[in-house]
Amino acid sequence: MTAEVIDGVACAASIESSLQIRIDSLKQQGIIPHLAVVIVGEDPASHVYVRAKQRACERLGINSTRIDLPEETSFEQLAEIVQDLNTDDSVHGILVQSPLPNGINELAITDMIEPSKDVDGFHPVNLGRLVQSRDDGQIPCTPYGVMELLHWAGIELTGKRAVVIGRSFNVGMSQALLLAQKGADATVTIVHSKTQNPEEVCKEADILIAAVGVPEMVLASWIKPGAVVIDVGVNRVEDSSKERGYRLAGDVHPDVADVASALSPVPGGVGPMTIAMLMSNTVRSSEKKL
Ligand code: GUN
Repeated sequence: MTAEVIDGVACAASIESSLQIRIDSLKQQGIIPHLAVVIVGEDPASHVYVRAKQRACERLGINSTRIDLPEETSFEQLAEIVQDLNTDDSVHGILVQSPLPNGINELAITDMIEPSKDVDGFHPVNLGRLVQSRDDGQIPCTPYGVMELLHWAGIELTGKRAVVIGRSFNVGMSQALLLAQKGADATVTIVHSKTQNPEEVCKEADILIAAVGVPEMVLASWIKPGAVVIDVGVNRVEDSSKERGYRLAGDVHPDVADVASALSPVPGGVGPMTIAMLMSNTVRSSEKKL
C-alpha cells in the first residue's frame, strides 16, 4: 500500500480563504486584526517559525507586530512587555515564542497573558475550557490543526481507536482531549516514555498521531495496515549534503507510507496547519467572541 498524502498546504489554504471573508468583514467594521509576536534570543528554528507566522499575517491582511528581545532579557522585562500588550486595545492576539531562554519561567509568562488574547491557547483558563469542551476558549494551534486536517481529509473518528504519542500540554495532551471530545468521539490512548510495549499499543491504532520529537522513531512495524498516520514532528537532522547542513524529518519513518492508508508529510503536513489555526485564533480574538 502507498499511503495517500494528507496535504496540509492545501487544507491550510482553504482555511485561509474562509478566514479572508471574516477579515474583510471585520475591516468593514473598522477592525484590523492585530497579532503581536514576542521572540527572545536567537534560537534559529524559532526565528524560522516567527517569520512564517509574519508571512501568513501579510497574506491575510492581519497587522503583525514583532518584538525581538535579546537573550539576556529578564523575566521582569518580558513580563512588562506582556502586560503592555494586554492593555493595548489595538492588539487582539499575543504570542510569546517558545522556547524562552533558560532562567525565564515560561509557564509564569503564559499565566500573565490575557486569556482573550491568548492565541496559542496555552493559558490555564483556555486549557481548562478545553477540558470542559467549552466553545468560548482558544484551542492550541497544533492539535486544533490536526483535527481540522483529519476532518478535511474525510477521516471518520467516531468509535475509532486513536493513539497519541506524546503528552505535552500543548500538543499530545490537548490532542487526546480533542479526539475524545463529544463530536469527535474517538477512543484515545496516550503513549509516553514510560509506556510498556509502545509499538504494540500503536499497532492497535486506527488513527496514530506522533508528537514525540524523535526523528523517524515510528516504524512501519508499529502500524496497523490501513491506519491513518499524522506526523506532528519537525526535527532537524544533520545532513552535510544540504546547503543549510540539515534536513527536516518527522517523527514517522518514511517506510510507514507502505503500510498506512494515509499519512501527513513533513514538511507540508501539520506545520502549515499550525499557522493557519494561529491565524484563525487571531481572527476569533478580533471578533471579540471570547
Ligand atoms: N514554538 C514552537 N511552536 C510554538 C507555538 O505554537 N507557539 C509558541 N508560542 N511557541 C512555539
